[in-house]
Amino acid sequence: MSSLNAQRRPRPPAASFRDQPVRPQHQFAAPAGPASHLALVCRLGGLIDATHRYTFGHCERVAEYSVDIARRFGFQERLLTAVRLGAHLHDLGKVCVPSEILNKPGPLTDEEIEIIRTHPVRGVELLEGIQFPWDIKPIIRWHHERYDGSGYPDGLCGEEIPISAQIIGIADAFDALTTTRSYRPAVTVDAAVQEIRRKHRQWHPEVYRAFVASVRKPGALTLLPH
Ligand SMILES: [Fe+2]
Repeated sequence: MSSLNAQRRPRPPAASFRDQPVRPQHQFAAPAGPASHLALVCRLGGLIDATHRYTFGHCERVAEYSVDIARRFGFQERLLTAVRLGAHLHDLGKVCVPSEILNKPGPLTDEEIEIIRTHPVRGVELLEGIQFPWDIKPIIRWHHERYDGSGYPDGLCGEEIPISAQIIGIADAFDALTTTRSYRPAVTVDAAVQEIRRKHRQWHPEVYRAFVASVRKPGALTLLPH
């Protein structure tokens, strides 16, 4: 009887959908903002480095050197962020270059050099349709352009080259010189500075001065571990 009464006892209304704790959809998404962009981009930079036997840690070092130079150049926070992100992604297009070429011991053929020289354009192509809050695609495309017009892929010269791309270009050159490559051993900081000075026409004069200040002054750019 009591069980029948119990069965007939009105049941409390089922909790409506609205009463259920709802897990907001954005809880599953990565947080937006500079920190999450930077984390993603740093991870990508590490993957780019991993494709090249001789450049482990290259993107991280170029980012540190570039930000130091850009600070001395007077860049404020937003531009510094663009430089940092651009430095991490500057060689993104190398994922399109066969690893046999990237890791080839000894000198490259003219054809292999031409294939490597496609990486700035390929990097921008890989990011097609992806919008960044910072202007980093010019950095990727033009980090091998040189002030005297001797660079690639577009042969820009002088003020046509964005300062941010010039900054990453000189930091990239410095790291290349101070890192062991397949075709030569690393050189000292002094020797690297001498080499960059010898080719000073390749650099915007102010960028070159900021680089030298970064290397020479107290608190200066120091070699990061390779
Ligand atoms: Fe590059």
